[in-house]
Amino acid sequence: MATIQLEHGVYSVGAKDWQRRLFDGLIPLPQGTSYNAYLVQGNRDAALIDTVNPGFEDELLANLATLGVSPRYIVMNHAEPDHAGSIPRMLQEFPEARLVLTGKGADMAAAMHELPSERVDTVSTGDTLELGGKTLRFLEAPFVHWPETMLTYLEEDKILFPCDFLGAHTAAGIYADELDDWESAAKRYFGEIMMPLRKAGQRALQTVEDLEPTLIAPSHGPVHRDPERVLSLYRRWTAGETEAKVTICYVSMWGATDKLVRTLADALIEQGVHVRLFPLPETDLGELAKELVDSRAIVLGAPTVLGGLHPAAAYAALLVRALKPPAERAALLSSYGWGGGAARQAKELLEGTKMELAGAVEVHGTPRPAQYTQVRELATSLTRGWQ
Ligand SMILES: Cc1cc2nc3c(=O)[nH]c(=O)nc-3n(C[C@H](O)[C@H](O)[C@H](O)COP(=O)(O)O)c2cc1C
Ligand SMILES: [Fe+2]
Ligand SMILES: [Fe+2]
Repeated sequence: MATIQLEHGVYSVGAKDWQRRLFDGLIPLPQGTSYNAYLVQGNRDAALIDTVNPGFEDELLANLATLGVSPRYIVMNHAEPDHAGSIPRMLQEFPEARLVLTGKGADMAAAMHELPSERVDTVSTGDTLELGGKTLRFLEAPFVHWPETMLTYLEEDKILFPCDFLGAHTAAGIYADELDDWESAAKRYFGEIMMPLRKAGQRALQTVEDLEPTLIAPSHGPVHRDPERVLSLYRRWTAGETEAKVTICYVSMWGATDKLVRTLADALIEQGVHVRLFPLPETDLGELAKELVDSRAIVLGAPTVLGGLHPAAAYAALLVRALKPPAERAALLSSYGWGGGAARQAKELLEGTKMELAGAVEVHGTPRPAQYTQVRELATSLTRGWQ
């Protein structure tokens, strides 16, 4: 990615990773991602805010070289390797540079990276770093999405560098308002990364709103020239506001569970409820995470395999548990051939969530008329009180 000037003395100097297709061994990246790093140049000193994923160091260094700048400070907002993994190399390349991070950041960085402790300066909320006409203010924002996360704010220009917060996984574009599908990418990203930590997200959001930034430059995806757009979405998403929408993830080997799922989906659609179907296991889990952000109920459909839940459904159930979506209700649809076991295991997995189990329909083999009636009744109890 070429160096981009965002403001006088403020540059985007990171890298785009168009080819990456998976993050954390979990999150699909249909549009790749970017590792945004920023350079803030004052009259006296320059600071590099975050770095890039290992493998992209040369690109970052080339961008800094075009500016002819050697940063005096490297600010680590977050210790995860996609932003901090290149800090050791940057400290080598810029032997005068000091590393600026929080106390928690120092602990985390020490565990994850080889860093010279004598070059580290720790900061905490409210501390500032004066670069000469450009002042960086640091604000701790724990658990968005790791415990050590901090936000950096450039006071004179009202530019916020929130690291992973308010980002999106896409390599496309420079500014969010230039991308047709930015909102979709941002919602996916929220579902995958921030949804499980909504309370921390709400606190960080308040911190951001109090700053009234005019530009928000996250560490993944495009920059926000219209902060209100992303902030208003995050207000809803972090509050766990849901829609009359049911997300159904299911797997069926021979069509029995599939029949239950389609009956339920039709009954819900007749009630005017939005339905999203995710056939497992080929489903794009990012799309699933995106729909979970504002689904009011979640249904798992899964036959019994070898005495338990079909493994694809078990994976989906574990993912739902981990992502902690705000849905208020859940339901189960299942089929078995002899002893069963899927429904019991699914209930155990869903008991680890805050969702109320609205009902379960389990059939022996293929569904019979009475069981289709049960499924239609389930559609009613799942959406009780919604309209
Ligand atoms: C590989 C495999 C393993 C199965 N293991 C069990 C089992 O342990 N217990 C059981 O009750 N049924 C078992 N079944 C039967 C299915 O649960 C049953 O055929 C069910 O109706 C399939 O639902 P579906 O049509 O939605 O795939 C197994 C089926 C397959 C293909
Ligand atoms: Fe991260
Ligand atoms: Fe990240």
